[in-house]
Order: sequence, then C-alpha cells, then structure tokens
Amino acid sequence: MKASVNTIYGEPEVLQIKQVPKPVPTANQVLIKIHATTVNRTDCGFRKPEYLLVRLISGLFKPKHTILGSELAGEIEEVGANVQSFKVGDKVFGLSTFVFGTHAEYICMDEKKAIALMPNNISYNQAAAICDGAFLAYANIQKIDFNKSPQILVNGASGSIGTATVQLVKHFGAEVTAVCNTKTVELIKSLGADHVYDYLKEDFTQNGKKYDFVLDVVGKSSFFKCKKILKPKGIYISSELGYLSQNIYLALFTPLFMGKKVLFPIPKDKKKDIELFKELIETGKYKAVIDKIYPLDQIVEATKYVETGEKTGNVVIQIIQ
Ligand SMILES: NC(=O)c1ccc[n+]([C@@H]2O[C@H](COP(=O)([O-])OP(=O)(O)OC[C@H]3O[C@@H](n4cnc5c(N)ncnc54)[C@H](OP(=O)(O)O)[C@@H]3O)[C@@H](O)[C@H]2O)c1
Repeated sequence: MKASVNTIYGEPEVLQIKQVPKPVPTANQVLIKIHATTVNRTDCGFRKPEYLLVRLISGLFKPKHTILGSELAGEIEEVGANVQSFKVGDKVFGLSTFVFGTHAEYICMDEKKAIALMPNNISYNQAAAICDGAFLAYANIQKIDFNKSPQILVNGASGSIGTATVQLVKHFGAEVTAVCNTKTVELIKSLGADHVYDYLKEDFTQNGKKYDFVLDVVGKSSFFKCKKILKPKGIYISSELGYLSQNIYLALFTPLFMGKKVLFPIPKDKKKDIELFKELIETGKYKAVIDKIYPLDQIVEATKYVETGEKTGNVVIQIIQ
C-alpha cells in the first residue's frame, strides 16, 4: 500500500511517499481502507518534536511510528475473528492519536479503539476532519459546569481546536466570546459565537469584560495576561505548554489557592467521545470546518501549510480521489 513515511525527525521534506506492506488484522482488529485523513498540529509536533516529552512518547532519536496521521474516515475491508461491533463495508471515522498511521491507504485498529460508524449525513472528507479538534476541545471543557451558563472566551477560535471549541461550548450552553482575525469573523459567528473580537483590531484583554473561563486554544496569550479578564474564581486553560512550560507548573500550584487558576487537561481519545461527535453531527449541532484538501502525494505541501499556524479549521488529505 501507499503511505507517507518518515524514518527520521525533521522538516516536512522527511515525509516520503513509499510502498509499504498492507497490514493484516489480528482477531480483535478491523482493517480500514482509508478514504480521507488530515494533517494536523499533532502530526507536525511529532514529526519535528520541540519538547522532550514528545520524544519520550515517540522515540528519543528517531520516530517509533514511521507513518503519521491521527484522524481517519474510511470503509471496513476485513474484520478479525473476534470482532463484534463492525462488519465488512461499514463506513467508520475516528482517531489513532499517539499511535498514528492514518497517512496511508490502510490501517488496522482494535475495534475497541476510538472509531465509530460514520455520521450518515457527511462525506469522507468531512468525517476525517471532525475528531482531532473536537476531542482536544472536549478534553479542555470537561471541568466546566454548563448548568451555570458560564461566560467563556475562546482565543484562537478559527483553528481546528478553536472551531470545535466554539461549537461545543455553545451547544452545551455557554455564552461564547471568540477571538479570531478579520477574515474569519463571519465564519466564527456562524458557528455560534455570541460575541467576536477581531484580534487585528482589538486586544481582548483590554475592554474590562470578565469571563468564567478563558480557553486559549492557540496558546498565544498567557494566564498572566488573561488574569485581569477572569472572574474571581475564573479558570485559564491553554492547549500549549506556554513560556518555559509555565502552564504545567501553574496547573500544579494555582489550584492550591483560592481564586483564579490554571488547568492543563491531558487529552485521551475515547470511543464514547467519537460516538458523541457522530450524534452531534447527525442532529446538525456540529460540523467540521475544512480549509484545504490535498492528495496524499502532496503531503509535504499540506504539512507546510499547516505549519504556517494560519489554517482555518482543518486540512484534509484525500487518499481516494
Ligand atoms: N495539547 C495538545 O495535545 C495539543 C494537540 C494539538 C495541538 N495543540 C496546540 O494547540 C494549538 C492550536 O491547535 P490547532 O490545531 O487548533 O491549530 P491551527 O488549526 O493551526 O489553528 C490556529 C489558529 O489560530 C489562529 N491564530 C493565529 N494567531 C492568532 C492570535 N494571535 N490570536 C488568535 N488566533 C490566532 C490562526 O488563524 P489566523 O492566523 O488566520 O488568525 C489559526 O486559525 C497549537 O498551538 C497546537 O500546537 C495542542
């Protein structure tokens, strides 16, 4: 089968399209013919690790997993002898976070992993672009009590995690203020944001409004900059470690005191999250935002675009044209 392979860490050019053996499912696995996947920031972070923590997971000197890609939408081609929940021909979507392997024509996955039947109202390209942003966004909002109709500010609302966060917190009942740039203001309003700041025109920390939560899903701000816009017991959550990995330390120490604090949730892909996303999509409450679509042969170009940090939503790799 064809796959994008990287045997060393480095710039996007380490990704090479090669022929590799097609995987064979074990008794508890399904073989999925991948129709579409994405290039996301997690792939980039594991292709050229900046943090020692990533190398501890993915190999100190060279990658343990030589095919990147963590999202997929495809069709089940074969099932192992013990598989109960899927059958040949089922359309599925989901995540293979930290194990990767979706930048390829086929992948084998345990039926219990984070895959589910695909929503019945979207294409493979759309389904491939659902899970990474949504699962990271969902991990960030686990501690929020939506019964209290919290006021939430989302910084970086136009990214993969941002577009997912805006939709999820709005759906669960928050009043949402989003921060993005001029070109995405209308899109972000259409996803449900009640108020939008254009960061090219206005500094969201300067107008005196206060929030129960600041979700800095692009990591361009900090707890110290956002402290003044948090309510007395307000919480700051970032998807980045921050300067000198400060968000880890702040998440350890600020909860020891009363008052404003930092949380740093560790995301873990779960089947039940994928099933929730399926339900939200089928009931029209969630949609994937797609910026560009590339063929697998152009994975280097796709990766370079993702690494600009300026994509809107998601970048899809369409494996089957
Ligand atoms: N914690 C984790 O496990 C984890 C996993 C994956 C990613 N991440 C990190 O989470 C962050 C977001 O990921 P993502 O996948 O959503 O990234 P992304 O899709 O690349 O989105 C980043 C978005 O932020 C916008 N942006 C850039 N500068 C901004 C600013 N100053 N203020 C507000 N928005 C700004 C960009 O659009 P414009 O430039 O057009 O404004 C872009 O739409 C990344 O830093 C990534 O490294 C964390």
